[in-house]
Amino acid sequence: MRRLSDLKIEGLQKVFGEATAVRDLDLHIESGESIVLLGPSGCGKTTTLRMVAGFERPTGGRITIGGTVVAGPGVFVPPDQREVGVVFQSYALWPHMTVADNVGFGLTVRRRRKTLEGGRASIAGRVQSALEQVQLDGLGSRYPHELSGGQQQRVALARALVTEPRVLLLDEPLSNLDTRLREDMRLAIRNIQRESGVTMIYITHDRIEALALADRIVALKAGETQQIGPPEQLYQNPRNRFVALSLGPANFIPATVQSWAPDVVVRLDTGQVVGINTPPGMTRRPSEKVLVCVRPPDIGIERRKDDAETAGGTVREAVFLGDETHYIVDVDGLPDPVRIVQRTLRPMDRGTQVTVLIDSGVGNLIDEPADALAAQPPAEGAQLSSLSVS
Ligand SMILES: Nc1ncnc2c1ncn2[C@@H]1O[C@H](COP(=O)(O)OP(=O)(O)OP(=O)(O)O)[C@@H](O)[C@H]1O
Ligand SMILES: [Mg+2]
Repeated sequence: MRRLSDLKIEGLQKVFGEATAVRDLDLHIESGESIVLLGPSGCGKTTTLRMVAGFERPTGGRITIGGTVVAGPGVFVPPDQREVGVVFQSYALWPHMTVADNVGFGLTVRRRRKTLEGGRASIAGRVQSALEQVQLDGLGSRYPHELSGGQQQRVALARALVTEPRVLLLDEPLSNLDTRLREDMRLAIRNIQRESGVTMIYITHDRIEALALADRIVALKAGETQQIGPPEQLYQNPRNRFVALSLGPANFIPATVQSWAPDVVVRLDTGQVVGINTPPGMTRRPSEKVLVCVRPPDIGIERRKDDAETAGGTVREAVFLGDETHYIVDVDGLPDPVRIVQRTLRPMDRGTQVTVLIDSGVGNLIDEPADALAAQPPAEGAQLSSLSVS
């Protein structure tokens, strides 16, 4: 039976001089849960992780692991007593030690300090099973320079797992690997986490990694939590444009509320009247202006026929990418062009007159004022130049 290893972060704060790196973070992670901290560079991900690991003292707040306060007012438990395993972006392996010695290093140190029971043989056994976990059995006698980047990162993972930590912390562990390897490692990490039942905090700025690895994602912006929830929820019901764009390309379509109860119905600025979803707790009055988030694959597009119920537009760009075609379409009545993704073998040419279809139920209201569109420059993912496959 694995020990209880839930993790409670309450009012966590870190200030460096004048800058606040982490602002009032509250997060309760269940034992065995996989949490991904997702956010752009500088939003406080590493700082949060370092405070959980014990490499950094919080300015305020409290961290509790498995019922024991490890950081808080008057309390600071050093890293080696927190029972956490850490994997960094740089593998940080000892070059002069074999794979097995790298993995077993922490155990050997504990045995010397007499904080670990059992002899050399038991260490060798644990190292062996950790190497099996990351599918490196048989490579224990090699040196790091005799391994590929992906294999070296697996060694770092085995080294973190071998001590049977309560919490596994990973800071962008896959960013040095190529795309294909990242996919493999993503799956491997998720499987190891599920099978071992270890509580995990995984840091990334890659939305695909976040979606693939998380039970819940924490979307961070400038040290502040924007939204916490399962991947599907953040993708489908983002609270604001920042969260929407953190999880993938999105359109923000101005609209006017027609009715709020029992169902929310809006008139899009394209003229279409549709039912839409709303974040919990949000209320608006009829005739208020709002913003509706619609993901590119949720918008239909077809050659223009005369049809008063649908919105007209013109194809500005069409990029055939094999699996799908990406369109940028100027739509009558909308201030910004709309991104549409479709699976088709016969893309429409630029300049084609089209009809754009947004069905009831696919849009989600964003809890931001409608004039936010004009007030802020488009965030990452909104530019035409960022038309990309992933
Ligand atoms: N030791 C430090 N002294 C002063 N400022 C720091 C220190 N460590 C981090 N910061 C600042 O705190 C903020 C958050 O940094 P952090 O490393 O946590 O970001 P991050 O989300 O991990 O970014 P990245 O994705 O680039 O790794 C940044 O503005 C950074 O400059
Ligand atoms: Mg970082």
